[in-house]
Amino acid sequence: MTTALSAQRLPFDVERVRRDFPGLDQTVHGKPLVYLDNGATAQVPQCVLDAMQGFHRDYRANVHRGIHQLSATATAAYDAVRGKVARYLNAASESEIVFTRGTTESINLVASTFGRANLGPGDEVVVSQMEHHSNIVPWQILCEEKGARLRVIPMNERGELDMEHFASLLNERTRLVSVVHTSNALGTINPVRQILDLSHARGIPVLLDGAQAVPHGPVDLQALDCDFFAFSAHKLFGPTGVGVLYGKRALLDEMPPYQGGGDMIESVSFAGTTYAEPPHKFEAGTPNIGGVIGLGAAIDYLEELDWSGAVAHEADLLQYATEKLSEIAGLRLVGTAVNKVAVLSFVMDCAHPHDIAAILDQEGIAVRTGHHCAEPVMDFFGISGTARASLSFYNTREDVDRLYSGLQTVVSLFG
Ligand SMILES: Cc1ncc(COP(=O)(O)O)c(C=O)c1O
Repeated sequence: MTTALSAQRLPFDVERVRRDFPGLDQTVHGKPLVYLDNGATAQVPQCVLDAMQGFHRDYRANVHRGIHQLSATATAAYDAVRGKVARYLNAASESEIVFTRGTTESINLVASTFGRANLGPGDEVVVSQMEHHSNIVPWQILCEEKGARLRVIPMNERGELDMEHFASLLNERTRLVSVVHTSNALGTINPVRQILDLSHARGIPVLLDGAQAVPHGPVDLQALDCDFFAFSAHKLFGPTGVGVLYGKRALLDEMPPYQGGGDMIESVSFAGTTYAEPPHKFEAGTPNIGGVIGLGAAIDYLEELDWSGAVAHEADLLQYATEKLSEIAGLRLVGTAVNKVAVLSFVMDCAHPHDIAAILDQEGIAVRTGHHCAEPVMDFFGISGTARASLSFYNTREDVDRLYSGLQTVVSLFG
């Protein structure tokens, strides 16, 4: 993954980091919580809670439309986050950062604006077999509307994309490549550099679904040179209901608006309406002000984090957890890519994923089960779902040991 690490911060110390996340310090069913559902939603540091409470308690007001003090304070705090996100991800300009409700809305925004404007009958959009539904269904809706075609990059048994097949899919009808940077169901980190280079060589823009990439390290958008990038704040140690769409300014300039309403216009009359410049053109209505401010606090926190230490810690956890889980009789890991993040999807011969999760829950261990909104992945492996432990930098080897012994309990009960 391309990272934009800055210098001078405290060396990574997992116990110190854990103390920043109050949600980790609780018991569930009488046992200390082991939170291994970070891929779904991560815990938040205290500074995010403080920032959001500060908005609601001290300067709650609408943005961009009041001259009174509270509105001015809220507007300054809200607008500052755009710059923080742009700097953290090394976007060329903060006008390339659009606030949305999450990854899902970011992708839908691109489908409804860029997609509607650029696709016609017979045109093609390329996705991969390991997409989250939010990077499949918006394109299916668009393709149906336009008489266009969705093409799919296949993957192998380890959960890695077939890049030769990908290259063969690109042609003069391809209008967009939209792929997941890092898979939520498998943990695979896709070869995004190669995907971008092959696509750009043919002048085809690329959207990266970065929902599972950014929680494992910052990306450098200018170095990547992707055209669109989407992620959700709640997976990035921030609040729910907020997300980001990054789009290259030239593309955002060309795209029609997404929704009509307040704040996205330059002027309105019954003779016609002119639109505001990006990013405001894509942000109709009162935004999630407190949520955006919370995202800003999460970015502040992550800027202070020793990311190289955190990445090394996660790599150690992945290796340790892979070894431990491989010792369990009848357990099969689903997603064994060479290049992956600390996500362990698995099935067990003796128990259904829901039973696994129910037993683990009784032990205070939170994992996710089901198809993880990636049904084509499950179809490929011939299963209905998996249990998934998705780890973050605040997890520990002790968490993995607790998971291991919880799974031994599953074996002893069902095996
Ligand atoms: C890879 C990926 N893409 C998109 C999404 C959708 O994110 P959200 O529900 O926050 O819009 C998720 C959520 O799990 C995801 O993992």
